[in-house]
Order: sequence, then structure tokens, then C-alpha cells
Amino acid sequence: MHIRSSGATVEVLSPAKVNLWLAVRGKRNDGYHELETLLLAIGLYDTLRFSARPTGPITLTCRRVWGDAAQDAAGQPGEGDHTTVSPRCELLPEGEENLVYRAAQLLRERAGSQQGAAIELVKRIPMAAGLGGGSSDAAATLLAANRAWGLGWSRQRLAELGAELGSDVPFFLTGGAALCRGRGEQIEPQHLPSLPLVVVRPPSGLRTPDVYARCRPDGTPFPIPSWLETARRGDWGALRDCLRNDLRPAAEGLTDGVRRVLQTLERQDLWGQQMSGSGSSCFGVCRSLRQARRVAARLRAAGLGRVFVTTGPQPAASW
Ligand code: C5P
Repeated sequence: MHIRSSGATVEVLSPAKVNLWLAVRGKRNDGYHELETLLLAIGLYDTLRFSARPTGPITLTCRRVWGDAAQDAAGQPGEGDHTTVSPRCELLPEGEENLVYRAAQLLRERAGSQQGAAIELVKRIPMAAGLGGGSSDAAATLLAANRAWGLGWSRQRLAELGAELGSDVPFFLTGGAALCRGRGEQIEPQHLPSLPLVVVRPPSGLRTPDVYARCRPDGTPFPIPSWLETARRGDWGALRDCLRNDLRPAAEGLTDGVRRVLQTLERQDLWGQQMSGSGSSCFGVCRSLRQARRVAARLRAAGLGRVFVTTGPQPAASW
């Protein structure tokens, strides 16, 4: 998360994430699933501009950056949103259905504030992708509103509010890399070396609740401490074994894009590959950025979806 302020306007670059591993421990009484997952913030960003108003409504306008413009902007915070921007996009809800709008409303209500805001969101992170775009934008909204409205809430208090909006929102308030437990909202930050990544969003996306509804955890042992040690050491040769995602069979049952991308990645001599979150995006952990670019060109030529070259973890949020 990169934040800068200018007068009453706060601009935040909100990153995507990948789940290096995701273990589902079982279904809970509240309908959620108990998780142990390692999240990495990656260098693919949406941009949120939050302009505070002394009073009045909260309004949201969304734009979407397509194709090469999104890739060009992926690793360059602050650039890219002046390139190919689509006209106002009907696919992006701008009211209650958008988590950004809900985040701003919820914070204003809980803080007992009368202030208003004009929010602009520039989307580069693919949706229905398992990359956490909506949750990251919601976290960015909480940070921006907290600053622009001068509320002075602590990170902890914002994280508690964020957990009401979505399981991944607290992670994005911290960023970097973190082991997340519970339904994903209990965060344990980790220091990990940077990895070159290729990320692919197949043509069809997946709805998170649909994937969880089909998930049947099999309870296979999952040695988190030893795999954390592997990741901390940067022992990428052993990484393949810990790239696990218990939601993958459910996602593969809903779209064949996941299997097609993973089969292609398996043939590229990478350190490893896996699906991210509830899909449908998949990522490959590459041996170098050069290899990542080469693999990306192959995936694009094969028409397997939207392809990004990036790195993760990105530095933890500073605010
Ligand atoms: O928390 P979030 O709103 O992102 O979750 C979306 C949906 O994903 C939930 O309504 C639930 O169906 C599913 N989910 C789950 N267990 C989790 C996280 C999400 O079952 N730990």
C-alpha cells in the first residue's frame, strides 16, 4: 500500500495478493472456513483517490485500465492511469455493491462523522480472480478516509472494521507477507525474500462463495512451521512442495481455465505454480524476472488469459 496526500485528497495504490499456500482446516458454524494461508502482496495495483468534502454524500466513480496499460503500470506505482482508460464501466458497480463504497459508509457511520467524499477508483487488478482486488480497495478506502477525514483511528481498529467487510481486508492494511489464520483475518507478518512471479487470470473468473461451497477439505497434514522456514530461507528448490491450495479441486470443477493454465505453467521449468485464493488466477514462481517475461510471452501467445509479470512480497504498508 503506497499512500500520498495532497490537501484534502489522499491517493492510495492498493496491491493485489497471491496465496503461496492455502490450507482449509474445516467448516465453521458461522458458515466460513477455517484457513491457514500465506499471503504475499504483489506489484499489481489499483489506484484509489479519496477527496474529502466537509459535508454531503459519498460518491464513487470507477475506471478500468485494460491490456498492456495495466501491465505497464503493474510495477510502477503512480504511473499508468493516464494511458488506456476505459470509459465509465458498467461492469464495475459504483454503489452499495462495491466494497469501496461500503467501506467508506461503514467508517463514516462508526466514526459518527458527517463528512462526505468523492472517490475515484482506477482498476487494474482483474476481478473474480482470487487476487484480493476488492478487499485491497476496501483497505485502501479505510486508510484514505481515516487520513482525509482526520479520524485518527489506529491500524488495529481499522483492521477490526475491515474484517466486517471481508476476510482479506485486515491483511491489506498490513501488506508485505503474512501468515493468516481464522477465516483469514488473523495476521502474523512474515519477512520473506522477493520472488519473480507470472500471474495469469483465465478468461473466466470465479465467485468466491461458489468455490468455497464446493470445497471438501480432506484434512491432509500441512506442516506450516517447516514450510515457513523454507520460504524464509529462500529455499526455492523445496518450494514446490509447499505450494498447496485446497480450493483448487473445487475451482477446477467450475472452470477448465485453471487446469489449462497450470498445465502450461508445469511445462516451464519454474520453481513452482499454484492457483491463488479461490481462483481463477494462477501464478508461477519463476527463477528470474527474465524467465517470468519469457513465460508471460508464451502464455499470452497461447491466449490463456490476462498475464502479468511482477514480484512479491511488496514492502509492508507504511502509514
Ligand atoms: O470474507 P469474504 O467476504 O471475502 O468471503 C466471501 C465468501 O467466501 C464468504 O461469504 C464465504 O462463502 C466464503 N469464505 C469462506 N471461508 C473463508 C473466507 C471466505 O467460506 N475463510
